[in-house]
Amino acid sequence: MSNMNLTLKIWRQKGANDKGKMVEYKVTDISEHMSFLEMMDVLNEQLVNTGEEPVAFDHDCREGICGMCSMYINGEAHGPDRGVTTCQLHMRMFNDGDTITIEPFRAAAFPVIKDLVVDRGSFERIQQAGGYISVNTSGNTTDANAILVPKEDADKAMDAATCIGCGACVATCKNSSAMLFVGAKVSQYALLPQGQVEATERVKNMVAQMDLEGFGNCTNTGACEVECPKGISLENIARMNSEFLKASFKG
Ligand code: SF4
Ligand code: FES
Repeated sequence: MSNMNLTLKIWRQKGANDKGKMVEYKVTDISEHMSFLEMMDVLNEQLVNTGEEPVAFDHDCREGICGMCSMYINGEAHGPDRGVTTCQLHMRMFNDGDTITIEPFRAAAFPVIKDLVVDRGSFERIQQAGGYISVNTSGNTTDANAILVPKEDADKAMDAATCIGCGACVATCKNSSAMLFVGAKVSQYALLPQGQVEATERVKNMVAQMDLEGFGNCTNTGACEVECPKGISLENIARMNSEFLKASFKG
């Protein structure tokens, strides 16, 4: 395939209190081998060279690990591919002459800071409310291998732990629900013996913080699971609900 010429419609917003608007740009000679963020780099270089302000967007690892690259591309979190983040999205998913719409993740609990950058501090505060375990580091620590964990539980906990906190689930959900994220964070500990010490407090506190941050309720549409770049299963939401019920009975 030859290189592509594209029209980009990008959300520009100077700051949190600016109204913001879509602005159209052209980029030319884009290789199909580029990642989406590399294409954005080309645009920004172009803007800098013409004295315009580059488009602000979040990124760090550029390999699907940090969860920073939150972009809503053609109406989908992280764009049209499945199981990838924006930094892993390749330009071969697009065609010469395409118009691509790029917006920030939109949710009341993810306010826009600038252009495509949103504040996901709400996720951090949910994590701080219970996303940890207590470990004895006094010098008399138990050998990790001394605590047996069934293979199936270990696998499920590991799967839940692959959540990178990107927020695509929230951006995709019509209710801006964070249940898939919180479900993953609760499950990764709920399945392991090491997570039992704080189990009751963890689920209660994380759910309370989630509600406080203004995330919506889950109405089981399942869109979050489809758009999640890490394939986090809806099973984690069910597990969080049963953990919450158990915790409520304990008072
Ligand atoms: S559950 Fe998936 S979509 Fe949601 S924050 Fe975690 S990795 Fe991202
Ligand atoms: S930049 Fe880290 S996941 Fe995309």
